[in-house]
Amino acid sequence: LSAGEFLSCWCLWVVIVVVFGPAGSGKTTLVGEFGRYLSEQEFSVAYVNLDCAVESLPYRPNFDVRNYFTLVDIMRRFGLGPNGALVKSMELLLDLVGEVSSKLEKLGLLYDYVFVDTPGQLELTLFHDAVVKLVESFARRGLALFLTPADMLKRPRDLVFLNLMALAVRVRFEIPLVTVLTKADLLDREFVERLRARVAQGLGGLEEDLVAELASIVDRLEKKQRLIKVSAITREGFDDLQTILHEVFCTCGELT
Ligand code: GTP
Repeated sequence: LSAGEFLSCWCLWVVIVVVFGPAGSGKTTLVGEFGRYLSEQEFSVAYVNLDCAVESLPYRPNFDVRNYFTLVDIMRRFGLGPNGALVKSMELLLDLVGEVSSKLEKLGLLYDYVFVDTPGQLELTLFHDAVVKLVESFARRGLALFLTPADMLKRPRDLVFLNLMALAVRVRFEIPLVTVLTKADLLDREFVERLRARVAQGLGGLEEDLVAELASIVDRLEKKQRLIKVSAITREGFDDLQTILHEVFCTCGELT
């Protein structure tokens, strides 16, 4: 969609896109590069960084949690190691939820897209109230991306496992979720399809029944959604990603 077509669409718009994914899945890089891609098309884009451990960002955040605390500060202040400090950072983030959510509301009025870059440790995000409460505050306009990085996909079971993580995000946050395969430049084209076929044939091994059951749940969910492959290096798939963001909130399209 061009910026003109986008603006002429009458449906509810302004999407707050929360980006989830395992550590190193490419969240920050994708937010930076995809945000730049949208800006080049004259869309206005805002960024919210919730990761207190990140050292540098490829975008200029409109809200940056590091202005309140950083991982290193927390380690020093509370005498904690990195893991304890990460848990503590979630408690501190919980105290900031009201402030972040009113900032998001303001950004939502001013920008076409608002991206929320989440902390690297997905299990903290999932099990702690901070991000859950924040997402609840903008649920009607929110959309989650779950990043599945190509370099973590080596065996068929990896695909099942990463999709189960996506399912956990879907269950935890009650907003539409789109699974995105990142770092697509590292894959040969048919690799994921071959993995999917292997999963469908059965994987063998000790817990075959369990894995088969899980794979079939994931398969049912995946069939409802096309697979989007993107690369923040080559920008492959950015047009598909943009289309799907639009379709999720627009009655002119649908997710399937
Ligand atoms: P944490 O928040 O620290 O867990 O990381 P993240 O999920 O924000 O990932 P980040 O953007 O820091 O990227 C992790 C690594 O993957 C970096 O070395 C990036 O350069 C690399 N990377 C990110 N996107 C791509 C991509 O599309 N292709 C390739 N080849 N590498 C990528």
